[in-house]
Amino acid sequence: MKNIHHLLVLTLFLTACQVPKSKAPVVKDEQIEKILSQLTLEEKAGQLNLIPIEGEPTEEHLQMIREGKVGSVIKANGVDNNLKLQKIAIEESRSGIPILFQEDVIHGYKTIAPIPMAEAASWDLEAIRKSAAVAAREASASGIQLTYAPMVDVCRDPRWGRILEAAGEDPYLGSLVSAARVKGFQESNPKNENLLSCVKHFAGYGATLAGRDYNIQDFSERELREIYLPPFQAAIDAGVASLMCAYTAYDGVPLTANKFLMQDVLRDEMGFKGLVMTDWETIPNMVKIGVAANDTIATEMAMNTGIDMDMTSKKYVSLIPHLVKTGKISEEQVDNAVRQVLMLKKKAGLLDDPYALFDKKREKQELSSERNIEETKEIALKSMVLLKNQNNTLPIQQEVKNIAIIGPFAKANKDLLGWWHMMGSPNDVVTYFAGIQKEFPNANITYAKGCEIDSFRVAGKELIPQAVNTAKKADLVIMILGEEYWMSGEGGGTASLHLPSAQEELLAAVAKTGKPIITVINAGRPYIMTEVAENSDALLYAWMPGTTGGTALGEILSGKFNPQGKTPMTFPYHEGQIPIFYSYRRTSHAFVPGITPNRYSTTYRDVQNEPLYPFGYGLSYTTFEYSDIELSSSEMTKNGSLTASIKVKNTGKVKGNEIVQLYIQDVVCSITRPSLELKDFTTLEIAPGETKIATFTITPDKLEFIGADYKKAIEAGEFKLFIGTNSSDLKQTSFKLIQ
Ligand code: BGC
Repeated sequence: MKNIHHLLVLTLFLTACQVPKSKAPVVKDEQIEKILSQLTLEEKAGQLNLIPIEGEPTEEHLQMIREGKVGSVIKANGVDNNLKLQKIAIEESRSGIPILFQEDVIHGYKTIAPIPMAEAASWDLEAIRKSAAVAAREASASGIQLTYAPMVDVCRDPRWGRILEAAGEDPYLGSLVSAARVKGFQESNPKNENLLSCVKHFAGYGATLAGRDYNIQDFSERELREIYLPPFQAAIDAGVASLMCAYTAYDGVPLTANKFLMQDVLRDEMGFKGLVMTDWETIPNMVKIGVAANDTIATEMAMNTGIDMDMTSKKYVSLIPHLVKTGKISEEQVDNAVRQVLMLKKKAGLLDDPYALFDKKREKQELSSERNIEETKEIALKSMVLLKNQNNTLPIQQEVKNIAIIGPFAKANKDLLGWWHMMGSPNDVVTYFAGIQKEFPNANITYAKGCEIDSFRVAGKELIPQAVNTAKKADLVIMILGEEYWMSGEGGGTASLHLPSAQEELLAAVAKTGKPIITVINAGRPYIMTEVAENSDALLYAWMPGTTGGTALGEILSGKFNPQGKTPMTFPYHEGQIPIFYSYRRTSHAFVPGITPNRYSTTYRDVQNEPLYPFGYGLSYTTFEYSDIELSSSEMTKNGSLTASIKVKNTGKVKGNEIVQLYIQDVVCSITRPSLELKDFTTLEIAPGETKIATFTITPDKLEFIGADYKKAIEAGEFKLFIGTNSSDLKQTSFKLIQ
């Protein structure tokens, strides 16, 4: 009996250790097969190697290229630099295979667009696509062929610095933005002027615990499927060429070795056929976190998981030949990974006419072209969100004589570009100050910095009295507050979500003057705006709006452009509410505002449940009135559809664009469902006094959910349907789904 038990344990142990062969798809192509057949094993491993070359290449770099040990390069930019490296690869290495140049072209290359979170606030998929196309035109003209974007990690914690790179809290909006960005990068421009896209970080990186980057995380398979996977599926359906795995682990297994996610889910279920790469050094990281005893085992694990390309660790290039020779991996697995790399090179045009991609003249014409700047401004305008506008403080009237612009970001330049600003130059940035000055040529504009920025909120109060004096002499004050470019982005976690340094004190002191105050926020994340909003008559979230940010701000403050952006993420009332998002599952002890006593409900003892600004929130210089919802029928079948329409009237004095949002609730379902789920939206341009109709088609896919078996399901019964201006101000009706 004991022996049987031992045998069983041994069998279980061996099964667990056994590494099933990778299920990586085999991409076959005649041209690629020919190249592959001529490569040595060492050269094949070289093709899977991606190394960083920042600035001048070292002799070691050049030697590696000559020896065929470099397949791709990151951090080398510009036609001059990259052409030099490319010539060595083509003319001096035995195989002559060109290098694939890759980069973090996240939201622009030279002309920097608003951060992706801001772009998502436009809810304008066409503008988002165009913005990615601008980035692709510029970067491809500068010798780059692949970008590590879009990042599609859904996140509900604004403490995490990387939320600026994604599209906010909602998987539906996130999926549409993901597809728009993939298409923008990959197919918007003529041949050779696009970038291959690499969607990242697969999967669940945004669930990082306590907002600290690279942190542990733990979430259910249900959350994985409902929240984190959909934007990846959207990228795959849009034809994304490659995918990067996350630094993190899913269910305890690092993504670089996670066969469930990288094979069963990604390949078999989601149908991804392109190249998979690690993130920076995630292979040796497996030794650091103690899931592999050494680099050789870690490399074997990554290869057997079907990871095709090794970012920066050089483990593939140095260890793959040994692993093949010792039978730990097969040469066929290596060949399949090389096929993926060569396919990317083919798609980029590198296998046919590599030098055509390195054109100095095109680079000169393309970077910061008038067209690129104009198109970038379009999305900068659409992405700013008006959060408060008491007494129509905005737009500012041209008659105003004395304007004080106060705040540490009034004359900032680099801070408008954000963490991932690539070749974006602070000198090209139109500052907020300059943008306002341009729009109000007749006003007397004064300036005070107000406080210095210190990341630990200790210093910087000495300048406050001077700022108060400046405010006293003005008719109107524009406060420009926020965070510096490095305070969000990778590694930019923050515990406090109050504006850094003495900015809240500064605002409170200026508010005491009683002057009308317009506050503008430059930030990569939703900050706690509770006190800021109280001390401001108007509040505009500019995010980090990029190169043209100042111009866009000026045009919004003057009323030339009527703001239309809506929050892609809930703005908490208090930090302790985090994670806070609109699509909470229903709970048995739901909190009902206004009913007391309320102790046994899902609520706090000390602060309100509601956020300061809900998901989908944003004001306009005009007002909109919604009628009741009209349904084409009160029932639909599982193969049918129905339409829901609503009249929206512009009841103000100026033309405005309204983003009309549709949410659904499955009233009775075998799985607890969110009380609200965004399922559609549309933008209406409405003239003053005019009424327009928003019409939505409800199709069965909008009523589906992921069942107990993790398969798509749809259940008959009642559905509530909501339409409105944001996730908490909604008209409501219901219909029945019948068999
Ligand atoms: C980040 C990736 C990025 C890569 C290359 C990593 O640290 O997580 O998102 O693409 O660096 O710069």
